[in-house]
Amino acid sequence: MITAAIADKNAILKDKIKELKRLYPQTRSVLLPALHAAEDLYGWLGDDALEQVSMLTGVTTAEVKGVVSFYSLFKTKPHGRHVIYLCTNIACLIMGADTLEEYLQKTYRLSNGETTADGRFSLVIMECIGACDRAPAMLVNDDWHFNLTMENIKEILESYK
Ligand code: FES
Repeated sequence: MITAAIADKNAILKDKIKELKRLYPQTRSVLLPALHAAEDLYGWLGDDALEQVSMLTGVTTAEVKGVVSFYSLFKTKPHGRHVIYLCTNIACLIMGADTLEEYLQKTYRLSNGETTADGRFSLVIMECIGACDRAPAMLVNDDWHFNLTMENIKEILESYK
């Protein structure tokens, strides 16, 4: 059953995608911005959201799901208020990302793909996030944090309530 709130969001998404289609000569090019718009509206990309995007862009649901599964920054399940994207690829690993991951597990009982019991944080372990020269690095929501240490990660995360 579609609630009034979901129906409102579907209508907003329809307008947004209509607007996006004017900016892109090929319909398929609308897909990524349409997915970002859907994620902003619904909070995450569940099956219903993906079907809306498919219907409104004309890209098959299978292709939409393929694109979403390729990009790890898309949220494919409900998440906490703040999402920590911690890089554990080679440069960050050499600079101590594994100890930071252990810190998150011990302090917040947070493992990859999970959300804290209070809904404050979710954790996504990333491959390279393109900040190797300032490793170890993470994103919290859309905020970059570089040169992480056991000392500064605590202060950084405590600023996200
Ligand atoms: S390896 Fe971590 S940002 Fe590149």
